Formats: sequence, structure tokens, C-alpha cells
Amino acid sequence: LIVPVILAGGKGTRLWPMSRSQRPKQFLALTGDLSLFQMTLKRLDDPSRYGKPVVVTNAEYRFLVAEQAQEAGIELEAVVLEPVARNTAAAIAAATLIAARNGPCLIHILASDHNITLDDAYLAAVDTAAAAAKAGRLATFGITPTSPATGFGYIEAGTEEKTGAHTVKRFVEKPSEDKAREMIASGNYYWNSGMFMFDSTVFTAECKVLAPDVFKAADASVSAARVDLDFIRLGEAEFSASPDISVDYAIFEKTRLASVVPSPIQWSDLGAWDAVWKESQADEAGNVSRGPVNLFNTRQSLVLSESMHVSVNGVEDAVVIATEDAVYVGKLSDAQDVGRVVKELMKNP
Ligand code: GDD
Ligand code: MG
Repeated sequence: LIVPVILAGGKGTRLWPMSRSQRPKQFLALTGDLSLFQMTLKRLDDPSRYGKPVVVTNAEYRFLVAEQAQEAGIELEAVVLEPVARNTAAAIAAATLIAARNGPCLIHILASDHNITLDDAYLAAVDTAAAAAKAGRLATFGITPTSPATGFGYIEAGTEEKTGAHTVKRFVEKPSEDKAREMIASGNYYWNSGMFMFDSTVFTAECKVLAPDVFKAADASVSAARVDLDFIRLGEAEFSASPDISVDYAIFEKTRLASVVPSPIQWSDLGAWDAVWKESQADEAGNVSRGPVNLFNTRQSLVLSESMHVSVNGVEDAVVIATEDAVYVGKLSDAQDVGRVVKELMKNP
């Protein structure tokens, strides 16, 4: 059985003001009744493939994780708590050591904030990735690019391996737009989905060599961990010593063991408001709206309110998000900038 490890410690700042540091986007119901984290848990409710999930998250989110898992009716193997955020390399290294504490196992790393349709194509990709992982590869899932997005990793596929996965010629994390265009034009490039599959022993050995400081910190923090109810609290001083680096830069850009599984799956990183608009059912005018809102002569817009009445008149390409205590208004086409807007806000609250 594969041990799923869910990364649930991100801040999701581009979905401000609904996504807040107290309640980031993975814990929000952005497209339906369940939160993105809960939908991730539901996809893993498959005893023929998976053991119980391990969740790795910031200590601040421990009750959100526990409550939402219980509400979804999913039992967790462990909730690994990071005392500080050190990005995904350290989180994955620590969670992998804990998932493999009773012996080596296959691990499926999943983001907690993606919209993925559970269909045959998805299960086929998972099975191919598991075969590649068993053969000693660090498997990635390749999504066919639809735009020169700069928020993703790009993977150049090489020749096909026995398992059906392909070798990776190059992995480029978050390229410039020009570079992204070049790569897409040259063909054979995929977006990195943000999911990975590997054998715990292979990943750990590779991490030791390619990111020794991350490995040392993760390993020491696991040795110093305290068990607190269902929670495993990583040692604070030990974990804090890790560099703040994502697994993409720390491992996947460098390793020779990566494979990519071409994955024709329904996948979306709900990274910013434009993606939420795209992934939701729009009306004839191209509007997506929820909550107490009225739209007049408005097109191609996203208008969500959690509290107050919102009326929008005569606009196009707009995002209006109203919560209890904050309102954001901007262009849908500028949705990627919200992260920077929030950074400014944090400087001058
Ligand atoms: N536990 C934990 N701790 N989880 C974290 C942390 C952390 O410090 N930082 C981020 N995460 C979680 C996020 O909640 C998310 O589920 C996942 O890890 C990925 O982090 P993101 O911050 O969303 O990464 P990204 O979107 O910039 O880039 C990654 O995903 C892309 C696809 O969506 C990369 O893997 C890219 O290569 C990839 O294309
Ligand atoms: Mg992301």
C-alpha cells in the first residue's frame, strides 16, 4: 500500500481576502461544499491503493486539519506539525521519515490545494507513478501546458521507461515568461503537477546527498519529536535549522532519478482568483458569483461575498471578494498580483 503524505502548510496569499493566515485556502470550500483539503482526503479513500494519510502542516493549523478530517470521515495515520514554515523540502523530508518509521514504503506526496477529478486517467497515472517509484525512480506527474504560466515547474520528458513513465531531461522550477514560451514551443515539456511518488529509501538517500542541510534538520527534528495526542510535533530548534527551500529547487532540479508520468488528468492549481473563476460554473454572461450579490450589466467577472450585500454594475473582467472584514477589488486578468498586494498590506496594515 502507498502512504499518502499531504502538504497542508501553505499560506495561499493570492486568494486574499478569503484565504488568510488563520485559514488558508486549502481549508476553504472554494468550488463546492468540501474544502480543497477534504477533497484531497476523499481522493485517497481507496483501501486497494492507499494506507491512511499522513498530513504535514504548520502547528497553527492542527485543529483545522483534525476537524476537517473528522468531518470528512477520514482517519489519519499522523499529523506532523512544523514549528515554523521551512517550505516543502523540509516538510517532505520529515514526513517521509515518519511515514517510513515501520519500514520502507511507497509515498505519494500531494498538495492540499488542487482541484483534481478522480477518474480513470488519474488512477492510471497513479499506478504508473507507483510502478516507476518501485523501480527506484522519483516520479512526477506531467500536465500538458496550456499557457506560459510562470508559477509552475516545467519538465522536459526524455525516452520512455519500462513502466510507461519517461526519463526527465530537465526540470526548471518557475521560469520567466520568455523561458516558459520557449520551452512550450520546443515541445515535450510538461508542467509539474506538484504531486510526487517515490520509495522512502530512495528519496531519503537522494535528499541526504542533494540537500544535506535539509536532511540533517528534518532527521534531527524527527528524533526530537514529541507525540501530543494524534499530533507529532517536530523538534523546534532542529527543524528551524533547515534552509527555507522548496522540494522542486532542492531535489527535482538536481536529481538524476526523476521520471515523469504524462498525465492527461483534470487538474487545476487553484492558485489565484482567475483559476477559481475558470474552475467554477459560470452563467451565460461569464460570471461566477456566490453569496448575497447582485450583478447588473456585468460580464466575465468573479463576485463572491461571505457577508455583506454586494452590487456590481457595468464592469467586465472584475474580481470582487468581500469577507467579514476585508474587500478586494481588481481585474480578473491581474489575479496573479494579489500575492504582492498582500505583501504591501502586511507592511502597512
Ligand atoms: N507542510 C507544509 N509546509 N506544506 C507547505 C509548505 C510548508 O512550509 N509550503 C507550502 N506547502 C504546501 C502548500 O499548501 C501546497 O499544498 C503545496 O505544499 C505546494 O506548495 P505551493 O506553495 O502551492 O507551491 P507552488 O504552487 O508555488 O509550486 C509547486 O506546485 C506547482 C503546481 O501547483 C511546485 O511543485 C511547482 O513545480 C508545481 O508546478
Ligand atoms: Mg500551489
